Amino acid sequence: MNLKGIVLAGGTGSRLLPLTKVTNKHLLPVGQKPMIYYPIEKLIGAGIDEILIVTGTEHMGDMVNLLGSGPDFHCRFTYKVQDEAGGIAQALSLAENFAHGAPVAVILGDNIFEDALQPYAEAFRAQRQGARIIGKEVSDPERFGVAEVVGDRVVAIEEKPKSPKSHIAVTGIYFYDSQVFEIIRACRPSARGELEITDVNNAYIHKGQLRFHLMTGWWSDAGTFSSLAHVNSLVAQWPPKV
Ligand code: DAU
Repeated sequence: MNLKGIVLAGGTGSRLLPLTKVTNKHLLPVGQKPMIYYPIEKLIGAGIDEILIVTGTEHMGDMVNLLGSGPDFHCRFTYKVQDEAGGIAQALSLAENFAHGAPVAVILGDNIFEDALQPYAEAFRAQRQGARIIGKEVSDPERFGVAEVVGDRVVAIEEKPKSPKSHIAVTGIYFYDSQVFEIIRACRPSARGELEITDVNNAYIHKGQLRFHLMTGWWSDAGTFSSLAHVNSLVAQWPPKV
């Protein structure tokens, strides 16, 4: 079955105010392109040509103006509005009709990385069931979902732990089979009032269906001033592969 692509580009972007006062974080420039081009180009590079963009109400018009229906990218875009920033898993739940039973590759719109997505997508296609996440060793794991790894298995993921059990951040690149929407329906809001993608990934761990890969190239989010500046310099020195 064909993989479908999803880019999650909602949220408030509050950590980048005032840059995000009148625009969406994912429309800000990174190198010579708007930020959202990077995850879109990764999906297309992995042979995915049906892509859903989820974003908030305020800037949906700008997003559609920028991307259109897809001919410039040789793909087809579908759009879905997330009325409020209810979390990554809540944004993903809006993709159920779009997915229509197909497996999905999900990228957070502020995640920018060097490696091509294709080998990761191939590994997921080969596993036929469950989910696959990508980890990356970082020096500041407390900013992320952190994977506790035993051998080559992830045994638990903690969201922004004060005392991280490893240096492996869970990147915002996720592959899921069609069970994901049932799993999200069973999730409850976290202390910060969001449906957490980490709870979804832990549910796959409990089923024994979460596979994991360590990323070799560079990876960063671009959601804070320092990470946005860092990503700009990475993109200039080592352009992402598609
Ligand atoms: O970057 C990877 C990290 O992303 C993971 O390690 C964490 O486990 C995961 O929770 C997430 O952490 P952040 O706190 O950095 O996520 P943030 O709220 O910044 O949202 C990241 C992207 O997700 C954002 O660029 C757009 C999308 N998003 C987020 C929220 C909260 C939505 O589309 N809707 C939302 O409601």
